[in-house]
Amino acid sequence: MSIVEVRGLSKRYDPPKGVLAVDDASFSIERGEIFSLLGPNGAGKSTTIAMLSCLLRPSHGDALVDSHSIIDDPQAVKSVIGVVPQEIAVYPDMTARENLVFWGRMYGLSGAELQTRVGEVLELVSLADRQKDRVDKFSGGMKRRLNVGVALLHRPSILYLDEPTVGIDPQSRRSILDGILALRDQGMTVLYTTHYMAEAQELSDRIGIIDHGRMIALGTHAELVRIVGQEARVDLTVDHMLEGMVERWKELPGVSSASVEDEHAELLVDDANAVLPRLFEEAAEGGSRITSVNVSEPNLELVFLHLTGRALRE
Ligand SMILES: Nc1ncnc2c1ncn2[C@@H]1O[C@H](COP(=O)(O)OP(=O)(O)O)[C@@H](O)[C@H]1O
Ligand SMILES: [Mg+2]
Repeated sequence: MSIVEVRGLSKRYDPPKGVLAVDDASFSIERGEIFSLLGPNGAGKSTTIAMLSCLLRPSHGDALVDSHSIIDDPQAVKSVIGVVPQEIAVYPDMTARENLVFWGRMYGLSGAELQTRVGEVLELVSLADRQKDRVDKFSGGMKRRLNVGVALLHRPSILYLDEPTVGIDPQSRRSILDGILALRDQGMTVLYTTHYMAEAQELSDRIGIIDHGRMIALGTHAELVRIVGQEARVDLTVDHMLEGMVERWKELPGVSSASVEDEHAELLVDDANAVLPRLFEEAAEGGSRITSVNVSEPNLELVFLHLTGRALRE
């Protein structure tokens, strides 16, 4: 059975007229996978995480986390989840080990058991060699890894991370993503949220794309990309844009959309190999020259564009 089963989950803030932040979400998370919720700001990611953490009561629906209902048995749910908050929640003037010991006591661990578990967690988040250093000497990524360590102390069955890489440098981001992949390889289940397509693509076994509170697509990266069929995106620049050129491009067989801004055009095409020569011909006939061209394979941005008509910008 899936470790998380979400059934018709909805949240409306300030009913009856407030925002419907999550609208009838149903999905499941399999044991041992990294499942990402991908969506723009305001899509409902944090609201979903807050409900699955029993910090926010759903307006409708329920979810089972490790077979415990978030409505009927929040205490049991809290005991099986580890939550990594977006804000750093560790003490800067204590060492990494001292922080973990402090939080371990909060979870009711003590004595040899506490020391053993802290040692294990330091290994899990690759901070064993820095355990005696004060946290204020740590990089953003190391602090975040320590935060993950705190969330792992009570041996949760699933780890939730809500946009953990927002506002940190690329190197720290890299170390967090590697840490999450390593945890998954050791058997941890992860629920991850992000508005960065590239992260969702790299990390996830499966991805749910959400927009305005609705899950608009769900699957592996390969399955999601198949939604847009064979379409590729062609970005090109011309030395000067001719009158009516976009309209002529749009009429070419295999071109499903074309938009233009100054000398730059963006086209969705079935088969770039077949279409590109025709684009060059059309431009040359009018006396315009294509000065740069870039073809990108379907990706999650294209999926989002295809489903919503809007770009999912980072
Ligand atoms: N406490 C709140 N009260 C009222 N509206 C809220 C509250 N928190 C979030 N919202 C609204 O709910 C929607 C979803 O927000 P959120 O779950 O934070 O999205 P995300 O995490 O994907 O950016 C947004 O429209 C947001 O403005
Ligand atoms: Mg959020």
